[in-house]
Amino acid sequence: MDHKETLDSLLHEERVFRPLPQMLIEAGVNPQDLRAARELAEVDLCSYWEEAAEELDWFKKWEQVCDISDAPNYRWFSGARCNIVYNALDRHIETVNKNRLALIWEGEPGDSRQYTYYELYRAVNRFANGLKALGVGKGDRVVLYMPQLPETVIAMLACARIGAVHSMVFSGFSARLLRERVREVDPRVVVTVDGFYRNGQVIRLKEEVDRALLDDPAQNLESVVVVHRANVDVNMDSARDCWYEDLVRHERPHAPAEIMAADDPLFIMHTSGTTGKPKGLVHSHGGYMVGVHRTFKWVFDLKPTDIFWCSADPGWITGHSYLVYGPLLAGTTTVMYEGHSLYPQADRLWNIVSKYGVTIFYTSPTQIRTLMRFGHRYPEQHDLSSLRILGAVGEPFNTEAWLWMYENIGKGQCPVLDTWWQTETGMIMISPLPVSVLKPGSVTRPLPGIDADVVDAEGNPVPDGKGGLLVIKKPWPAMFSDVIGDREEVMAHYWKRIPGMFYAGDVARKDEDGYFWIQGRADDVLNISGHRIGTAEVECALTKHPQVAEAAVVGVVDKIKGQVAKAYVTLNHGFVESDDLHRELKEQVRRELGPIVIVRSIEFRDELPKTSSGKIKRTELG
Ligand code: WT7
Repeated sequence: MDHKETLDSLLHEERVFRPLPQMLIEAGVNPQDLRAARELAEVDLCSYWEEAAEELDWFKKWEQVCDISDAPNYRWFSGARCNIVYNALDRHIETVNKNRLALIWEGEPGDSRQYTYYELYRAVNRFANGLKALGVGKGDRVVLYMPQLPETVIAMLACARIGAVHSMVFSGFSARLLRERVREVDPRVVVTVDGFYRNGQVIRLKEEVDRALLDDPAQNLESVVVVHRANVDVNMDSARDCWYEDLVRHERPHAPAEIMAADDPLFIMHTSGTTGKPKGLVHSHGGYMVGVHRTFKWVFDLKPTDIFWCSADPGWITGHSYLVYGPLLAGTTTVMYEGHSLYPQADRLWNIVSKYGVTIFYTSPTQIRTLMRFGHRYPEQHDLSSLRILGAVGEPFNTEAWLWMYENIGKGQCPVLDTWWQTETGMIMISPLPVSVLKPGSVTRPLPGIDADVVDAEGNPVPDGKGGLLVIKKPWPAMFSDVIGDREEVMAHYWKRIPGMFYAGDVARKDEDGYFWIQGRADDVLNISGHRIGTAEVECALTKHPQVAEAAVVGVVDKIKGQVAKAYVTLNHGFVESDDLHRELKEQVRRELGPIVIVRSIEFRDELPKTSSGKIKRTELG
């Protein structure tokens, strides 16, 4: 964005949703607590996070909460010793949580497995010992190419327990991408499965591994561990491959948690790369643990009776932070589903909610839009009364999808939390709590301790109501701590664009209440006759039409206006494109946003191109 340029914001949402009285009475963090926390964090950021850190167990406390001497290479809890897995498992074994369910897993064919904290602890220790037997030690890397299985959680925790660094490669990626990642990460071990179930098919994952590892892309790779899941025939290379079950069979269910420095690496996660090449970011034991634990407990208002379900794949940061680490750190029960949300039909998620009595459901706008296309018939067939809190992350949550979730899933009784964060941030950054006043389409306000703002290219705050670049001005504990690959270049990308601030790569505006509205990725901004407009606003206007399921907007060159908008839309089931609809949609945008936004053409599609994590790839359109 050029000097002093701001964005125009044309979309105005007037509706507000206040918390129900019951929520205000029962919430662990009420509006007064929230205000007090904000005040404390503003005056003394370190005290705020120090208090959060005190809720966890440390082998040795920190010398400094946040060492800023080498900014932007911030070091959190320097001098401290800890292990995130000790906090996610061992400390619960000493309490009544020992026999509480840690993990409820459901396979796509309908099979189910459950682990108490004690059972999970034993399984993790066994595999930790198995990994050690394969020569894996502190600082070694392990690539996990795994779908949604209990062993995926076990493998993550087993690595972290012995100080090895896990790097998950999404199971929907092909051999080619796995090969690239293996080459970059250079693991000692790869863990995978024979196959798994997805949309009624068996996906043969081990075959992909064999293809990826042809002619040994990794120098240090010694073993491939294969979990039995689909019982399909696989080739086992006797010098390299072993079955998970054989490896753990004779291992002891006890293994000490390695004593780690707070900033020792925990895992490597690549960014989604919607608009650029994925970057390999590192998160570490101490700061990540504190940030994820605090945000998980506060944002979702955890109670001892909760059953928490995050539908994200563990291959993404959402899965790492809020399917695995967050819930286990908090001692809650986490739900994991192997398969596709439309298998065998579009009510599968609601079936799982009612079957296990899920109380908190965290998903993505793209998932909601997918299910919305089938209408309210499916949610109506299931008892969703156990739900008390709903949430989403990953993309702008258009008001229509937000309202649909609020009404049809939450039945007007559950707050819908639109949470903004990134792989880079490790934890939720801008989000309501269940006691917040909600405005559909807004991520509301930064959490306590998070100094977010909207600025121009020089770092000056832009006036309320104007859009600009979303930045974070002060460090936070779960921020990525290191980079694999070109560290200088990656650090410059995030920290040098606007000196002294973290550049998030999104555009946003703040309203008169200090509420943030995410307008899209900075790379996707439209420029129509000098008006700079975020793609999310135009897309939101289009999806207000009852026949539209999803919309993606890109800019196309126009001789007179510079750019005009081109829209791609998918329709709800039962509707077809027509000239009338075409006209109506253009009229809809004009009515919602005014005459500035000219939609030149609309293309109707069965599907929009998306990244494997579900984000619309606008760069592939237009
Ligand atoms: C990007 C980060 C963090 C887990 C999921 C994705 C977009 C995320 C929101 C939201 C609008 C959002 C942003 C962000 N995004 N949450 N609530 N409203 N946009 O992590 O793959 O690192 O992607 O997702 O563009 O920068 P990620």
